[in-house]
Amino acid sequence: MKKIGVLTSGGDSPGMNAAIRSVVRTAIFKNLKVVGIKRGYQGLLEGDMNDMNLSSVGDIIHRGGTILGSARSKEFMTERGFQKALDVLKIFGVDGLVVIGGDGSFRGAEKLSQSGFPTIGIPGTIDNDLGYTDYTIGFDTAVNTVVNAIGNLRDTSSSHGRANIVEVMGRHCGDIALYSGLAGGAESIIIPEIDFNMDEICKKLISGRNRGKLHSIIIVAEGVGKPYEIADEINKRTDIETRVTIMGHLQRGGTPTAQDRVLASRLGARSVELLLEGKKGRVVGIKQNVIVDLDIDEALKIDKEIDKGMYELTKILSI
Ligand code: F6P
Repeated sequence: MKKIGVLTSGGDSPGMNAAIRSVVRTAIFKNLKVVGIKRGYQGLLEGDMNDMNLSSVGDIIHRGGTILGSARSKEFMTERGFQKALDVLKIFGVDGLVVIGGDGSFRGAEKLSQSGFPTIGIPGTIDNDLGYTDYTIGFDTAVNTVVNAIGNLRDTSSSHGRANIVEVMGRHCGDIALYSGLAGGAESIIIPEIDFNMDEICKKLISGRNRGKLHSIIIVAEGVGKPYEIADEINKRTDIETRVTIMGHLQRGGTPTAQDRVLASRLGARSVELLLEGKKGRVVGIKQNVIVDLDIDEALKIDKEIDKGMYELTKILSI
């Protein structure tokens, strides 16, 4: 192996730059050449790539987003697009590829490796929705962004004696809601994995108000949706004025936390080592603070489980 490529794909996440930096610098340290591929698989099949050196990744460890850009390429999903990508890798003399992204990006990497091209996946998504790893790059930063927003909402909610519904990202996974809800002291957390009971939520709001509580925060994961309907229902049943805040893409930006930078640096370095060890079709992750790697298909078969104990704890602590 002489030359490797690195790309970021799917929804971006804070810490992707730290992962790119780690891949590039580890590769150079190990006497490999590296190319940075722009706009994920779309840039790959268009041959949009540049040689990277030590300075190409200077001053990016603290920056959100991805210097390589990202995309969800429909063309790559077609047989023609896929063949084009394989041809481009050959033409540019790339022998291995590191893909930073979520499950969709990993499926592309798996397909490349099945056709004989070595790929390694690094989990970069704020959702933390991959079952094989305890954390994905960007999750911690997103949770911190939500926790800071909850702090602001508490101020204004207390002034007006209101309840606030906060919708956070996570298409199928309630982890951002669960962690930010626990860290932000939310009254209730509504996530796709666990049915919720509106009477229970309203009862908590009423008893809180009756003991002089001036603010209430209810976190709703995007996968559940309907924040405005939930707010109307609360308003109707409790008479507590309720406002809605959609966190949206605010969660996807910002300077990555130290935890995300450390994770990205460790995973980036390991992915280069794996390519040098001749591995392909693997993903890297972290389990109990140990860096692990698994076959992509095996990793994607592991269901993501919500931490029910943590969910119960949020209920106890918000009585
Ligand atoms: O997968 C990450 C994610 O941020 C989801 O939480 C969200 O549903 C989606 O991406 C939004 O995608 P886009 O940026 O394409 O609107």
